[in-house]
Amino acid sequence: MLKQRAAELDSADPIAHVRDRFTLPERVVYLDGNSLGALPTAVPAAVEDALHRQWGTDLIRSWNANGWWDAPVRTGDAIGRLVGAAPGQVVVGDSTSVQLFNTLLAAARMRPGRRVLLTDPDHFPTDQYVADSVGRLLGLDVRRVPAREAAGVLAAEGDRVAVAAYAPVDYRTGELYDMAALTTAAHAAGALVHWDLCHAAGALPIELDAIGADFAVGCGYKYLSGGPGAPAFAYLAHRHQEDFDHPVTGWHGHAQPFAMSGTYAPAPGITRARIGTPPLLSLIALEAALTAYDGVDMAAVRAKSLSLTGFFQECADALLDGLGFTMATPREPARRGSQVALRHPEAYPLVAALTARGVIGDMRAPDLLRFGFNALYLTHADVLHAVRELRDIATTAAHRAPEFQQRPTVT
Ligand SMILES: Cc1ncc(COP(=O)(O)O)c(C=O)c1O
Repeated sequence: MLKQRAAELDSADPIAHVRDRFTLPERVVYLDGNSLGALPTAVPAAVEDALHRQWGTDLIRSWNANGWWDAPVRTGDAIGRLVGAAPGQVVVGDSTSVQLFNTLLAAARMRPGRRVLLTDPDHFPTDQYVADSVGRLLGLDVRRVPAREAAGVLAAEGDRVAVAAYAPVDYRTGELYDMAALTTAAHAAGALVHWDLCHAAGALPIELDAIGADFAVGCGYKYLSGGPGAPAFAYLAHRHQEDFDHPVTGWHGHAQPFAMSGTYAPAPGITRARIGTPPLLSLIALEAALTAYDGVDMAAVRAKSLSLTGFFQECADALLDGLGFTMATPREPARRGSQVALRHPEAYPLVAALTARGVIGDMRAPDLLRFGFNALYLTHADVLHAVRELRDIATTAAHRAPEFQQRPTVT
């Protein structure tokens, strides 16, 4: 039954051909693209070219001849197409944590006199640590209010809020929140809104311009598959760029970087969000990775992603019943990102045993098994295989073997 349904769903998949744009190991079902995306086939040749021709032969001339100087904004525009941002609003460089710090601090400085920074107690740790640091630097009170309660708090006491900093997708449970509603609530209170798109960019349609978002950041190495340590991106809505006072006034953000002036004068537009020399090899890898989205409609990505996550839930209901699992991810499609999380008291050994069988997911303490679904390269047959392996492990207690008990540093 489930096998037949998987085959039917896969044969009706309009973006099935996109899987060929990725290099995936044989006999591996990769359900961790929400941590580190798989390798796009365009990347090795692009990196090879960057190493041997651009660096090895063209040397310093590559800044002009091979477009190195413009790469942060050019790649930013390519990401902008996936997150609903018109050109000239996205820049790439540095890590998400760094981009987050800079944009959050700059945003908070745009609302002087407002003493509260709102963030989510379930936000990814770096987001909470950075919010606390920004709070200490600017003397703001950081209040942790869950995403589903934030609109209410903004309506009641939003006149004290400078910035509401949230993520559309809960990184643990995969729950999806209404970005438009929270953005509207923040603006009605006169506050700015800051979005962390790490678990959304490339996974589902995001409409930053249409919803009136102010600032956003996101990872290059998750769904966007830019590779380990890929630089992150930052979105600054056009209307905020002129007032954007960058906390790190590096020379690449200067209006005339090669005038070598001793005084900082910010460049116009998104260029002022640049800092210094970007990690070009990683940036070139990310730019090549983004070609996997060429001609792919984000609505089709979303439709397939919902089909994959919905099918995973259906398989879990049918095959994991009575084995101690509970579903942590909402079942309503409108409330589901592109991942499914299951709770089980033995989450770590179960994930370790699955990985040993070539089904790669991850876990988040204490009890979540987390599976990410990149619609560009996964099939419904992969989903069924993964759940069947999990059922087999749980029913035979294969995960209780000693080699699956010791958690490594990185899980
Ligand atoms: C939601 C979210 N925000 C921020 C980060 C931190 O990103 P980075 O380590 O690239 O600074 C992560 C990393 O996994 C994340 O999931």
